Amino acid sequence: MTLDHFLAPNYGCTNYGSKTETCSLNLPQPHSRGQLPTLIFVAECSCFFQHANFPCAQKNIRATREIDPIRNTHRKFVMTEKDTTKKHLLITGSTIGVALAEAFAADDQVASVTLTWRSHRPVVSSPKITTKQLDLTDEAAVSSTFKHLERLDGVINAVGFLHGHGLQPEKSISRVSSATFFKNMEANTLPTMLLAKHSRHLLKGSPAAFFTSISAKVGSIEDNRLGGWYSYRASKAALNMILKTLSLEWSFALPKCPVAALHPGTVVSRLSEPFTKHGHRQIFSPEESASHLKKILDNLTPQQTGRFWSWDGTEIPW
Ligand SMILES: NC(=O)c1ccc[n+]([C@@H]2O[C@H](COP(=O)([O-])OP(=O)(O)OC[C@H]3O[C@@H](n4cnc5c(N)ncnc54)[C@H](OP(=O)(O)O)[C@@H]3O)[C@@H](O)[C@H]2O)c1
Repeated sequence: MTLDHFLAPNYGCTNYGSKTETCSLNLPQPHSRGQLPTLIFVAECSCFFQHANFPCAQKNIRATREIDPIRNTHRKFVMTEKDTTKKHLLITGSTIGVALAEAFAADDQVASVTLTWRSHRPVVSSPKITTKQLDLTDEAAVSSTFKHLERLDGVINAVGFLHGHGLQPEKSISRVSSATFFKNMEANTLPTMLLAKHSRHLLKGSPAAFFTSISAKVGSIEDNRLGGWYSYRASKAALNMILKTLSLEWSFALPKCPVAALHPGTVVSRLSEPFTKHGHRQIFSPEESASHLKKILDNLTPQQTGRFWSWDGTEIPW
């Protein structure tokens, strides 16, 4: 049976996006006529059936679209029962972001991960991960992403900028340019504010949530002993201020949602590549860093909101 055959006659739904091929159904009980679930689209790749009288006793059915990773085309829809006790996360970014998405998706307590990307769609191995293209400086797109999510228990922002497009971190004040400054602020600072603004209503409904952004130790004002990298440092210090300020607001408004800044360590990635050639002491693979960061987030409590954590669980001064 194709999804067209299933949805259109049974639910009067014809507007569900892309072409379908096969559809494996796993409904716990057959539903009776007249009790039709409503189809709600929550993302480009998934949808939920919901109905108060749904005979599966409030159990929602989740339809996830599988993408063929090689041909990058639609493969099939898989329908599964939605478990409301498990967590739903949104993670942004590439190297560290993908490693975090895989690490969380491997956790039994996690039901789904929405992983956003901008230029290169990541190849992911877990079927729990749905990828979505998103430019985090586009506020309308950020808002729309959250409008299409039904539930959210955690946000990890792992996008950032250090060099590229002919721009480099500045070794001295004479190298500073407005282009470098604005680029760093745009990529390292603004996305966190937009993510917090537009995920707030969803995180508020979670019984145990978290909101975090990958910062960098060089964003600590107190820890700055080397100087240089003006724009990157400034953009991460500004990011830290946003997270600290958010933690104060949300300690009242969203008391079940701790806010944290995270330092991932030095990690092999496109971002760090030009600066790790000359015998950096400790360099992590993305998977190692993600495993350290996950441990911190797994143990984060609301009482610990508003802090800046290094990969090893120690605190970094703001
Ligand atoms: N790697 C390290 O050693 C290290 C150390 C300390 C802190 N960090 C921080 O860790 C975070 C992740 O870095 P990474 O090592 O994983 O670097 P990465 O592989 O270069 O990933 C950063 C990603 O951010 C994306 N991005 C930038 N601006 C964006 C926007 N407006 N909307 C959507 N995506 C955007 C980039 O997308 P495009 O591909 O489209 O450009 C890029 O893929 C960064 O915040 C970085 O500052 C990294």
